[in-house]
Amino acid sequence: MIAQTNGARISVTGLGCYVPERVLTNDELAALVDTSDEWIRERTGIRERRIAADEQALTDIALPAARRALEMAGIDPATVDLVVVATVTPDMAFPSAGALIADELGMPDAAAYDLSAGCTGFVYAIAQAHAMLAAGLARRALVVGGDVLSKILDWTDRSTLVLFGDGAGAVVLEQVDDGGFIGFELGADGGGGANLWLPGSGSRRFDEPERFVKMNGREVFKFATRVMVSSAEAILTECGKTVEDVDLYVPHQANVRIIDHAARKLGFPQEKIVVNVDRYGNTSSGSIPLALADAADEGRLGPGTLVLLTGMGAGLTWGSALIEWTTSSTGAFV
Ligand code: ACO
Repeated sequence: MIAQTNGARISVTGLGCYVPERVLTNDELAALVDTSDEWIRERTGIRERRIAADEQALTDIALPAARRALEMAGIDPATVDLVVVATVTPDMAFPSAGALIADELGMPDAAAYDLSAGCTGFVYAIAQAHAMLAAGLARRALVVGGDVLSKILDWTDRSTLVLFGDGAGAVVLEQVDDGGFIGFELGADGGGGANLWLPGSGSRRFDEPERFVKMNGREVFKFATRVMVSSAEAILTECGKTVEDVDLYVPHQANVRIIDHAARKLGFPQEKIVVNVDRYGNTSSGSIPLALADAADEGRLGPGTLVLLTGMGAGLTWGSALIEWTTSSTGAFV
């Protein structure tokens, strides 16, 4: 789907993120599998990532991010009437992470659920929350994107282990007086889904002992370089904007080579691109809100800043959102 929003001014009024304390370096990984700091940095740009503690599940890292977003928005959690959590690593299949988070934060009137769209989950989730708010079905939404992929990685498989990290981000969406989301483009190709999959995770192969992520890295790389460009071009055209109009490009942080390729093809200069994959690796649904929070911390988000978010991931899925940053949401978030 691709569309401009219907003119309702709905924007981010709070933003927060959280990463686990434990830093895992490339050298530490090289002690576990046959890899090296040099290989990982050259092929991915990743230097280190955060890893959740044994007892930490998704909601444990999502809650601090959500609390920060609510605090920044300055709202009473009880007034939130929609919670959408983008994740492929909820605490369990049910109850949903959304329901657990709404309960923990004191949101008795909120509809709450999880959404599965791989690393594109956060873009899908903000599109969905936006639609609910624009239609008048909800007034205040909390959107969380986060994953603890370390729990579903095969710690003996060097081809996936080195790529991922754990982290979460959250935003509050509300009606605003200025700025707001301008349009969304979302897509999916289940035909390519087998290139990035979790075999024993559902009713198709419930007794499958294979509980870990499987990936055909080269195919995902080809897919990623293609859709990161086509999705961005499509949303800009749909919204009557150009690359020159965009002040800040926030791509999914999977691999610095994918980001560089997309930025070069699209024509973004370095100073407009947000990159933090070197510090966090690929945090899946946490990646875009973590990058947004970093940009905010660095003072790169001000009133009227035009921001392009583009993600891609398991599904296979992809998606872009275009947002004009709002005056009331320019504080410090982390
Ligand atoms: N350390 C050392 N060598 C390695 C490692 C490693 N960690 N992993 C693979 N290799 C080896 C391979 O076995 C291969 O060896 P061979 O030539 O003897 O067969 C060699 O390195 C080259 O492997 P390639 O797969 O060709 O390496 P490539 O340059 O494609 O880089 C990578 C691999 C980094 C995985 C790349 O393909 C990539 O980034 N793909 C996209 C992955 C991605 O973004 N996935 C997440 C999507 S988002 C989501 O929803 C989770």
